Amino acid sequence: MSANSSGSATYSGTLDGSNAKRGLWSSRLAFILAATGSAVGLGNIWKFPYVTGENGGGAFVLIYLVCIAVVGIPIMMAEVMIGRRGGHSPVNSLRLIAAREGLKPVWRMIGAVGVLAGFLILSFYSVIGGWAVSYVGTAASGQFAGQSAEAIGAIFSGLLSDPAALLLWHSVFLALVMVVVARGVRSGLERAVSILMPALFVLLLIVVGYAMTSGSFGRAAAFLFQPDFSKLTTSGILVALGHAFFTLSLGMAVMMAYGSYLPKNISIAKTSITVSVIDTGVALLAGLAIFLIVFANGLEPGAGPGLIFQTLPLAFGQMPMGSLFGTLFFVLLIFAAWTSGISLLEPIVEWLEEQKGMNRTVSTLGAGVVCWALGIVSILSLNLWADFAPLGFVPMLEDKTIFDLLDFFTANILLPLGGFLVAVFAGWVMSRQALENELSLSAPMFRLWYVTIRFITPVAVAAVFLYNLA
Ligand code: TRP
Repeated sequence: MSANSSGSATYSGTLDGSNAKRGLWSSRLAFILAATGSAVGLGNIWKFPYVTGENGGGAFVLIYLVCIAVVGIPIMMAEVMIGRRGGHSPVNSLRLIAAREGLKPVWRMIGAVGVLAGFLILSFYSVIGGWAVSYVGTAASGQFAGQSAEAIGAIFSGLLSDPAALLLWHSVFLALVMVVVARGVRSGLERAVSILMPALFVLLLIVVGYAMTSGSFGRAAAFLFQPDFSKLTTSGILVALGHAFFTLSLGMAVMMAYGSYLPKNISIAKTSITVSVIDTGVALLAGLAIFLIVFANGLEPGAGPGLIFQTLPLAFGQMPMGSLFGTLFFVLLIFAAWTSGISLLEPIVEWLEEQKGMNRTVSTLGAGVVCWALGIVSILSLNLWADFAPLGFVPMLEDKTIFDLLDFFTANILLPLGGFLVAVFAGWVMSRQALENELSLSAPMFRLWYVTIRFITPVAVAAVFLYNLA
């Protein structure tokens, strides 16, 4: 059964913007571009380095890599597989498969968790995307040139302390996302990604190459790749797991939505592994670039969410043609964040269209305005409410602002929960026949995946949860 011959063929396609029947991706490459566009974003370049810095480096990176392999890749395969099997939007795919297997529609819950997570993540994701937008102008006007670490730090704290500026850039970023989702024209952007992502990668290589000359390679490499388990905390393990979900765009049915457009003859395992390897490669390269600069300049690895905005500009300020490279870098970062932002908003809009019968423009506007308003809360918690820790009485959350809490709750709780449900649905609810059919792996590979998704993945997620509660 192919994705567009199942059930009601009148479902309005959205990924390609047409209101005709659901079209399929034209090729394996088209799917990989869209999925990579979703996966590679602020998570790789902004979040990975700073959570690595906060959690002590090597041991955290190792756990993160294990989570990608043992939890991330199997769940990505499961999401894509469920999406292709169902051939509809995530909520309806899950309902259809559940009905076909004689089960309750309660599995639609996975889709609902996804919609909630999408709202919450996009609200603060767009604020950080706004930082990148603002830094294009800062880099282009040469403000980083020859500056000291203190001066670069002051530029960043100046931005954070200015709610009006943050609101402006948050609005600009969210508007970019909304325009593409409302018009449903993603193909152009996706094609652009095939040039811009490699360009971003090359720029990161240039920064790494430049920063290597500062003689901090040994320390940066040791920090990233030499595990020191005494630095790893219980919550660090949870953050590593949560980040594996966040960076691969898992746990909120995005890959399920994309999978529903995947032609039948394409290998789900190969494509999922390709996307995961690219995503991890970008994160590790960004981490290397940033920690080279951190150690060369005696900066603090655990500086928190501002890390890349306080380190990369320093390198751009010192290297030849730095203003040009810096401007280019932040433009490319916006593109990476843009395609990810779209994949956060798209499922919400699709859900509003399908469930509430709203048209695309109205649903985009409605969902966008809610995210925008929620973003204001994140903005204020960077300045006026910076000392307000609403859950200060909960251990582990003592000093977390609203912004920190949104990030923590979505990445470390909601996404793993969504992923857990996906694993259980794929491993225990769907028939083995359906799985074998859809994945078409060799017998030993199928067994490996099946054991992982039934036992290892759910147990790993549950264990990390329980361990943190205890
Ligand atoms: N993966 C993206 C990043 O690393 C963020 C993202 C986009 C995401 N869509 C998602 C995270 C869906 C979780 C779920 O920047």
